[in-house]
Amino acid sequence: MPDVTQLTGYIGAEISGVDLRALDDPDLRAALRSALSAHHVLLIRDQDLGLDDQKRLTEVFGDLMQLPYVAPMAEDPAVIAVLKEAHEDSGGVFGGEWHSDFSFLDTPPAGSVLNAAEIPPVGGDTVWSSQKAAFETLPEHLKSFLDGRKAVHVGKPYGVRFAPAAKTRANSSIRMTRGDPEADREVLHPAVITDPETGARALFLNPIYTTRFEGLTEEESRPFLEQIYKHATRPDFSMRLKWRRGDVVIWDNRMTLHYATNDYAGSRRLLYRTTFRRAPPA
Ligand code: SIN
Repeated sequence: MPDVTQLTGYIGAEISGVDLRALDDPDLRAALRSALSAHHVLLIRDQDLGLDDQKRLTEVFGDLMQLPYVAPMAEDPAVIAVLKEAHEDSGGVFGGEWHSDFSFLDTPPAGSVLNAAEIPPVGGDTVWSSQKAAFETLPEHLKSFLDGRKAVHVGKPYGVRFAPAAKTRANSSIRMTRGDPEADREVLHPAVITDPETGARALFLNPIYTTRFEGLTEEESRPFLEQIYKHATRPDFSMRLKWRRGDVVIWDNRMTLHYATNDYAGSRRLLYRTTFRRAPPA
């Protein structure tokens, strides 16, 4: 069975002694699922995964899911190439703000897999923050405020109402659908969710997509959201990965937020990304 080494006090583990192309062993698949439930981000180094291997790995954790609004690879609709070319120095970067993925969907992704193909010599790290730790250490008055409350999520970058200015948008190697009024639809999820497997509770609020709390206006919600995000993104609850080619990371999209750093102008960065689905968060 693989070795599991915890990477920080609250989040992340490195798994060693596995070849992710050989997933026939049900005990190995169960060990990977159980490590993800316990640590929420798994790092496996020195892998050599093709896209089919990556999809098989993704299916260990849930059903393969195709994301809306982001153009997949022409050769495979289940895979997104997270690519920034060396010359793409202006604007933002894909995932370059604290967020979880697509929380404005009725069933947001349960998790994702990134497979590092080309990594800048310096920079391009990804950071994840444990929303379980953030919830557990939240001041009592904010826990009481969130108790039983729902939050409203909107697909702001893809819709009309909150459409971002063109110059702040991610680079052009990743094509996205913009201006879709359907993305302006308000979708409600509990502000605090429970992992059905472990019973762990976590914040489920999204700095990109959460607009307000149910029953409150955006203005009334903002001071609460600001306090909560400041806490939820504390370095204490986070792990930062300096990628190497051949790294594979699997993360729980519901128990974490993540952030792609944008500090590698002049270098190319390419990771392949797949996503898995499970029941909606509750
Ligand atoms: C993302 O999925 O948000 C991008 C992560 C990354 O490129 O580091």
